Amino acid sequence: MKNKTLKRIILFASGSGSNVQNIIEYFSAFDRITTDLVLTNNKKAGVLDRAKSLNVPFYVFNKEEYLDDSLLNKLQSIKPDLIILAGFLLKIPKSIITAFPDKIINIHPALLPKHGGKGMYGDRVHQSVIDSGDIETGITIHYVNENYDEGSIIFQRAVEVSKADTVESIANKVHQLEHKHYPEVVHQLLKDQ
Ligand code: GRF
Repeated sequence: MKNKTLKRIILFASGSGSNVQNIIEYFSAFDRITTDLVLTNNKKAGVLDRAKSLNVPFYVFNKEEYLDDSLLNKLQSIKPDLIILAGFLLKIPKSIITAFPDKIINIHPALLPKHGGKGMYGDRVHQSVIDSGDIETGITIHYVNENYDEGSIIFQRAVEVSKADTVESIANKVHQLEHKHYPEVVHQLLKDQ
């Protein structure tokens, strides 16, 4: 890090949250980087149990808060250095994107620009890889802009797909890549700020 000031991260997820947990655990070893908040739109999301057991503040927001300025105000009061999406399914409102230029990143479970866009999440992505007969898939970490999966790419890593692979086996391989690289890429971005 260029200076030793405190760095704050905020995480968004809609589902299980294994990436969120992994990122929180990775940064627990760094006392100048704090996970200030886990946000979700889904009150049943597994990520909430993970945040609770890791003692990280969390908040479930509703549609109104998301679309008016309430959530934006909450984010601005924390002044995050990075906002990290990990399995977050809603489109980020323009007001939030504008307020945090180059500070919102996402991970996509395939090699963008292939297998991305609206409706391409979870198993649908891996099924699309199988249906296309691709011989590799992987992960893409990218900045978030107003269109699904179209922001500039920060990092990609590929993994082989064989004829024997299923949606489940591809999902496992991709998760392994995500868990290895997402915290490292976040860390590098924070160091470069
Ligand atoms: C990951 O595969 C991520 O790439 C995608 O959603 C999945 C979330 O997994 N955007 P988890 O909830 O972190 O386990």
